[in-house]
Amino acid sequence: MNRRVGLFSGVALVVGTMIGSGIFVSPGNLLGNAGSPGLCLVLWAVCGLYSLLGAISYCEIGTLIPKSGGEYIYFLEAFGHTHKFFGPILAFIFAWTVVFLLKPSSLAILSLSFAKYLSSPILTAIDFCPDTYLSYVINRLFAALCIGIITFINCYSVTAATRVQNIFTVAKLTAIAIIIGGGLYYLGLGYTENLEIGFEGSATSFGQIATAFYGGLWAYDGWNNLNFITEELQNPYRNLPLAIIIALPLTTVCYVLINVSYLTVLTQEEIISSNAVAVDWGIEVLGAASFLIPLGVVMSVFGTANGSMFTAGRISHVAGREGHAPDFLSYIHIEKKTPVAPILLNSLLGILMIIPGDIATLIDFFGFTSSIFYCAAMVALIVMRFTKKNEHRPIKVPIVIPVIVMVVSAYLVIGPIAAAPQVQYFYALLFILAGLIFYVPFVYYKIEVPGMKSFTIVCQKTLQIAPTTVH
Ligand code: ARG
Repeated sequence: MNRRVGLFSGVALVVGTMIGSGIFVSPGNLLGNAGSPGLCLVLWAVCGLYSLLGAISYCEIGTLIPKSGGEYIYFLEAFGHTHKFFGPILAFIFAWTVVFLLKPSSLAILSLSFAKYLSSPILTAIDFCPDTYLSYVINRLFAALCIGIITFINCYSVTAATRVQNIFTVAKLTAIAIIIGGGLYYLGLGYTENLEIGFEGSATSFGQIATAFYGGLWAYDGWNNLNFITEELQNPYRNLPLAIIIALPLTTVCYVLINVSYLTVLTQEEIISSNAVAVDWGIEVLGAASFLIPLGVVMSVFGTANGSMFTAGRISHVAGREGHAPDFLSYIHIEKKTPVAPILLNSLLGILMIIPGDIATLIDFFGFTSSIFYCAAMVALIVMRFTKKNEHRPIKVPIVIPVIVMVVSAYLVIGPIAAAPQVQYFYALLFILAGLIFYVPFVYYKIEVPGMKSFTIVCQKTLQIAPTTVH
């Protein structure tokens, strides 16, 4: 593997993964939970700070263990040496959760956001009431279409998938620039009524604030993306932290300014009840050119979904190497050299999730599940301070940083359960634990799954995949 990612591409990669759907679908939810414009803006900034601290901590882990594979490898290395059982189990559970829950739910949220921003202007234009069963079906069809196209691109060619990426990153930055610019212009004209409300009406319940966090954290998710490709970074000890220190504050400033822009142009009630807040913003500000916003959002979301699918194949591949995933998931297409099987699995599960799911529930589900593993990663960092005391640490962060991230993520797991238990949290926990049922017989005792050999052969023939190294 060659080191092809420099500082600029590193920043672009982080910003490009982070900016996707969240800033266009979460603001109403966040504002509703926060209760006031002041607290809402503070929460957006705090989510950015939390992600920054998390990403800085990941710099230490990523340079102490400079291997691609992200948390999966970190859990193996951090807990595997001291404890032969615990490290592999945690790594397995992580891979299991990523493949079956986190990646598919990300895809579902992104494709539903895509559908929302594609259908909303169309339905408004033909004066169609958006709250009917038909609009539910239309949205699911658009979302499935989105998943289908991305699946095709990613199976078809690696270069097509990356080329698509650059075009969409430009599109999303343009949409962001228009919204920020328009907002500042309106602010200049003196539209400050909403902002003057300040902190009046702020929420005080911890659980409610934690739930508001989920919406914000979804928008920032992707801050750990460079850790998956540390082996491809040029001069990683310098560029990894530098890219983080540039990309995270940049994104945070953009997110806060976009919210200021929404609050300048729309009333609180309009933002909270809006079906697609950026569309309403566009109609208000851009008039005839308002179609630019949904167009930009659709492209933004599409680009992030595409990038997310691109990395979905890699984790199965790494897990396959450790004997943690069935072999066929690590095979690649004999001609196209793409990881067809994990891509199709991801799409299938994503489609299953869009049928009952709605964006807000899926975002809570995602936030809850991912917080568990961010917390575990911080524990891993702290544990390694003791178990790998004398190993070379090119980057050593003040220990308070991972401690803060650990405490906050633990709170994000416990807070919402304590305040308002939802079935989706229960499902998530149950599913994570179900991984153990598979781990003990099939991974630890290496019992052959009945029928796996013939299933693998069927997969190889129908999907035209074969064992080779993917990269
Ligand atoms: N932050 C992105 C958004 O707002 C989602 C990122 C999904 N995560 C990932 N690693 N690709 O849509």
